[in-house]
Amino acid sequence: MQTEEFDIQHETILIIDFGSQYTQLIARRIRELHVHSAILPVSTDLETILQHQPKGIILSGGPASVIDAEAPRLPAGLLSQSIPLLGICYGMQVITHELGGEVDHAAEREYGRAELIIDDETDLFQGLPSHASIPVWMSHGDRIIHMPEGFVRIAHTQNSPVAAMKRIDSGSPIFCLQFHPEVAHTAHGSTMLANFVLRICGCRQTWTMPSIADSMIRTIRQTVGTGKAICALSGGVDSAVAAVLTHRAIGDQLHCFCIDHGLMRKQEIAHLQALFSQHYHMNVHIVDRSTAFLKALGRTTDPERKRKIIGRQFIKAFEAEARHLGNVEFLVQGTLYPDVIESTSVNGGPSATIKTHHNVGGLPTRMKFRLIEPLRDLFKDEVRQLGLELGLPEEVVWRQPFPGPGLAIRIIGAVTAERLAQLQEADAIVTEEIRKAGLSREIWQAFAVLLPIHTVGVMGDQRTYESVIAIRAVTSVDGMTADWAPLPHELLGRLSSRIINEVAGVNRVVYDISSKPPATIEWE
Ligand code: XMP
Repeated sequence: MQTEEFDIQHETILIIDFGSQYTQLIARRIRELHVHSAILPVSTDLETILQHQPKGIILSGGPASVIDAEAPRLPAGLLSQSIPLLGICYGMQVITHELGGEVDHAAEREYGRAELIIDDETDLFQGLPSHASIPVWMSHGDRIIHMPEGFVRIAHTQNSPVAAMKRIDSGSPIFCLQFHPEVAHTAHGSTMLANFVLRICGCRQTWTMPSIADSMIRTIRQTVGTGKAICALSGGVDSAVAAVLTHRAIGDQLHCFCIDHGLMRKQEIAHLQALFSQHYHMNVHIVDRSTAFLKALGRTTDPERKRKIIGRQFIKAFEAEARHLGNVEFLVQGTLYPDVIESTSVNGGPSATIKTHHNVGGLPTRMKFRLIEPLRDLFKDEVRQLGLELGLPEEVVWRQPFPGPGLAIRIIGAVTAERLAQLQEADAIVTEEIRKAGLSREIWQAFAVLLPIHTVGVMGDQRTYESVIAIRAVTSVDGMTADWAPLPHELLGRLSSRIINEVAGVNRVVYDISSKPPATIEWE
């Protein structure tokens, strides 16, 4: 499949990624200034860099040491361009090294907070409190011993005689920081970045949601012309925003399919239909395949097999629906920027597969569609802003992540119609109580899991031998790591008593207090 280019005409700050864990954060900080930013790996050649017509370039930090022969270098020819540069941490060291300065291992590594003394309050540090020491976040083992010729120091700390420097000869502007202005622990870091992007590079602040939406709608319209496009609606924010945006552009030429695998949350399909068909007047085809999915799952208990079966069934159902529509050229997908960024692999080699994430939007490459991916330049928080801009309700925009294989991977053991109904009831109680407690946004995900065991209980004077529900609630920033959420005891008590009283066949509720790692968020 081929992706259509979304050439949104905005000035760009490029970030060359040397493998820092903060690279995406730099990009987001720039976008918060309403300026477009893009990340390229350090292996990118000069020609590709120049094609982006950057107004400025930021060189990220990274784990290497410039002293090592193998350490990544700047793309050849970059320093002779007349484009303003900002080097951060490793970015500063690599500029120093390549311009003839000296970098060496510091006697003491500097990690965490340091006090910055500013020596020059113009340019990068303009608008900062004068004569004050500023807390900044350091994370480096090497430091600048001699600056390259033509540079002067503009700030220092106790451990780093050159914590910031700038070029003062006749070449194009270069600024370097040993600390990380992008992290929240650095006071006034956003002002420093704003000074670079707005004052030094002269970018205009045109990266705003209304202008992004307008240019995307125009591009989709031009690309699709009078053709037909389809998309899979899953109820998630990404596919919802992509679909509504595309509908604004091409109206009824867009057909949305919601493949109901029967593994969604209680009432979710009905809500989807009400929102997209009745409120937005979109062409939404709800395709009930719940019986086929359950049959295909049979007595399967292995988590990876469940995912594979659901993935295959989904593709089969989607392909059959697309065929009915006849001549469809375009497929709309809610791919986001973090999925697109080619991140610099520091250790080399792919990491081990923990779980194969089956995404309901992930369709087979053999389907010969041209892809429309209007969100492929946006971060998740920008997609949410765009959703609000398009009038999507808060529940959709702030919906917690929900796995493609749905409740099947929260029913440990075999998935039967009866167990599914039990879990849907328990899950609806968790969702409702978390919402009532005002915790829906603060909690990354909160849900119920049905365990494959029975335990003994007593109800009235009767012995019971029934199922156990585990409650999982975690806080997280990106789902990569997570902590169990310290839910208030009264809330846990209410959840337990409601689930035991209202869900037939459950006599015990437990709370999962594992973090990720070593556990994962889902149980399967
Ligand atoms: P884990 O369980 O790996 O989950 O800690 C991290 C995040 O990914 C979601 N998840 C999935 N999403 N298809 C998806 O689309 C999947 O197969 C899948 N498995 C896990 C999970 O809900 C959490 O947000």
